[in-house]
Amino acid sequence: MTPTPRFIPVIAIDGPSGAGKGTLSRLVAHRLGYHLLDSGALYRLTALAAMDEGVDIDDPETVANVARHLDVTFDAEGAETRILLNGRDVSRDIRTETVSMNASKVAAYPPVREALLQRQRDFRREPGLVADGRDMGTTVFPDAQVKIFLTASPEARAERRYLQLLEKGEKVDVDALADDIRRRDQQDSERTISPLKPAEDARYLDSTDLSIDEVLEQILTAVKP
Ligand code: DC
Repeated sequence: MTPTPRFIPVIAIDGPSGAGKGTLSRLVAHRLGYHLLDSGALYRLTALAAMDEGVDIDDPETVANVARHLDVTFDAEGAETRILLNGRDVSRDIRTETVSMNASKVAAYPPVREALLQRQRDFRREPGLVADGRDMGTTVFPDAQVKIFLTASPEARAERRYLQLLEKGEKVDVDALADDIRRRDQQDSERTISPLKPAEDARYLDSTDLSIDEVLEQILTAVKP
């Protein structure tokens, strides 16, 4: 008789960009010794690869083909993860505003989402996975043990992004960032496939007035049986 496969726990952390999902997912994964899936990176990599290859980014099937053949390595180095595309370190390149807008665009294409589905599920390995994204709890891992929907006001998210960019030595206009965030939220929430919305069984967590440590404690409390 084939033994029943052991249930591998998944902690799904969904929400809009800038809510702190990336940082918190990394911290939660580290605390629990779990693997980490940065699903947004896969959409960003698809956009970057499509741009690099010069294909028509407005054609969903062509972009899905790029997604299907992505040669990606997530190289964990302590707390940081280096992201390699065709062996080239693109960890910074995938975070530019142009790639962000194109990632949001290609993420709305159903064949692209389909092409990336199994690749995301393959991250589920012992002893467990923290999955960061928009549809982790609704579509990719509907049986996740814990589902968190982490959000913050657009202003707070723009401010955090502004500080991040400033730290990297990039100069940006905080109002333009807030506009970009609103536009991307709208694009991500209004698309017909896997829109950004909390799973019915998700815990809603607003991080606007909370520190990272406070949010981390709330998530870890939710994870404890
Ligand atoms: O989390 P992020 O900002 O790196 O995500 C990049 C883009 O990909 C963003 O526009 C939302 C989209 N995305 C998605 O549609 N589904 C996911 N599971 C993760 C990200």
